[in-house]
Amino acid sequence: MDHLKAMLKRRKVGHSLEGDFYHSQAILDIELKAIFEKEWVFVGNSSEIPNPGDYITATVGRNSVILLKKKSGEISAFLNSCRHRGSLICLGKKGHSNQLVCPYHQWTYDEDGALVHAGEMPADFDPENHFLKSVSLQNMSGMLYVCISKNPPDFEEFRKQVEPYIAPHQPFRCKVAYEESIVEEANWKLVIENNRECYHCAGSHPELTFSLTAFAMPDDPRADGFFTELMPRMAKKWQELGLPHKPVPGGDKFRCIRLPFINDALSMTIDGSLASRKLLGDLKDANLGSARMFHVPGNWNHFGSDYILHASVTPISADKTLLTTKWLVHEDAVEGWDYDVKHLARVWQATNEQDSTLAANNHLGTRSVGYEPGPYAESEFMLTDFTNWYGGMMEKYIEGEDEK
Ligand code: FES
Ligand SMILES: [Fe+2]
Repeated sequence: MDHLKAMLKRRKVGHSLEGDFYHSQAILDIELKAIFEKEWVFVGNSSEIPNPGDYITATVGRNSVILLKKKSGEISAFLNSCRHRGSLICLGKKGHSNQLVCPYHQWTYDEDGALVHAGEMPADFDPENHFLKSVSLQNMSGMLYVCISKNPPDFEEFRKQVEPYIAPHQPFRCKVAYEESIVEEANWKLVIENNRECYHCAGSHPELTFSLTAFAMPDDPRADGFFTELMPRMAKKWQELGLPHKPVPGGDKFRCIRLPFINDALSMTIDGSLASRKLLGDLKDANLGSARMFHVPGNWNHFGSDYILHASVTPISADKTLLTTKWLVHEDAVEGWDYDVKHLARVWQATNEQDSTLAANNHLGTRSVGYEPGPYAESEFMLTDFTNWYGGMMEKYIEGEDEK
């Protein structure tokens, strides 16, 4: 802990982190508690569990959580840990069951987590004391966020700022058309740092940069004549359609903005053509660019006129990170007619692979005895936000531990 404290104290704002932050398993173990078990973490989309009894599982810090659709239409969120001897109850990423039955000794829970069956227990055993433990859940237009902490941080400011941007795309009225998980050979913070800047885009992402502008702000000082003409034209159109677009004041915790696509692209596809002919929600106009949204610790999203992309980062170890990406289209879109999965997924599949290589190289390079924190470029301002937020969370956790 003293080593971590000293590293946090000498952290240089506006610079990448010291090597041990990326390589120490002991630091990752603290991060799981200090960050992933304190913050709201995106765990999935309500459209993944449309029917009563449908569930998905997700990893939050050291925990597996279960999100279960109830008969009432509400969603329950539980720690996936049996109250008998702690086994995981739901083993897969998704499933369907009217009751949650532990595979070990068949303790059985109802949709509210009440223990309804526990065989061979003594007469004085009280099932009421052995209900599944629930966790805090927020549903924002179908986007599900879970917080493990008993004192979750505020969610309402995020909802107030961001929901107007994403609500028109109706995430809750979608379906996952394709899903992919890759294991990156890099620390989770390097995966996020890589995602938070597009300084590297021109050199690495030929597929993505056909549609996506590298500019992260409407008034980016690097903007060319094309963008400075395009941006106000699209802003006027969004305004007329009632679609908010200005960057939200999310501080260093979240970000949301609507930006146009370049090259007359309608969608983030290889040639800019629509990925799905069935537009999202009640949208009528395909040419809307996209809303980009990020929330710490590790979730980024794109909301286009035709598809939504959810990406989530889950640390596996100090040097391995799981990246889960989901491509969602309108729930009524028909595969083979409205959309083709290969066309839909191609750009972000390629982008994820390219980013994975960049992050792995970054990870290996930061192990060098010659590595020292390097300065961020102006366009890497979101990395300054991220590392400042990270440093703050870690310091707060240590203070809390010291007071114990
Ligand atoms: S651990 Fe779940 S029933 Fe025994
Ligand atoms: Fe990238």
